[in-house]
Amino acid sequence: MKNLMENDIEKILFDNAQINKKIKELARQIEKDYRDKDLVTVCVLNGASVFYSNLILEINIPLEMNFIRVSSYGHGTLSSGNIRTLYDLETNINGKDVLIIEDIVDSGHTLLTLKNLFLGRGANTVKCCSLLDKPSRREVEIEPDYSGFTIPDEFIVGYGLDFAGKYRNLKYIGVLKPEIYK
Ligand code: IMP
Ligand code: MG
Repeated sequence: MKNLMENDIEKILFDNAQINKKIKELARQIEKDYRDKDLVTVCVLNGASVFYSNLILEINIPLEMNFIRVSSYGHGTLSSGNIRTLYDLETNINGKDVLIIEDIVDSGHTLLTLKNLFLGRGANTVKCCSLLDKPSRREVEIEPDYSGFTIPDEFIVGYGLDFAGKYRNLKYIGVLKPEIYK
């Protein structure tokens, strides 16, 4: 069946093969760096879920899976800088090496908030692996420690990323046609 979301996509930035290759590279780095650590991964719902599932299957060292859900965007395309926790971790991260898995670091508010939250709870280290990075949009000083692709200031969807809750189930990452969100 023809993909009914395709008409709304202006161009494909990264296809499924490119994403899979990148995930393998990121997994190799993470394995190397966390070999002797007590790795606790935290998936930031909902956007990171697709990336997270595929990434952890490539990481060949012991790890714990955890989920957190925060709100930042609502139905617009601009970050509020006002982050609320909608669903919290169910595990004690005191003394653990926490790796936050994100879909994208945009303004940086979400990542900074989560990092401070986890450090405040006594995590030994807190790092971030993000599939995408939009550095030109940063409003606070923070960088992902592991980053898949750096992209310009374009609104993208697919592979877990949404616009108004849709397009998460695209196999690739694409730029949404501006007329869809304007
Ligand atoms: P930040 O707090 O501004 O860094 O935003 C982080 C969150 O905003 C990400 O986890 C995404 O859910 C969302 N986001 C930022 N840019 C995009 C985009 O281009 N497409 C879809 N979601 C985005
Ligand atoms: Mg997100």
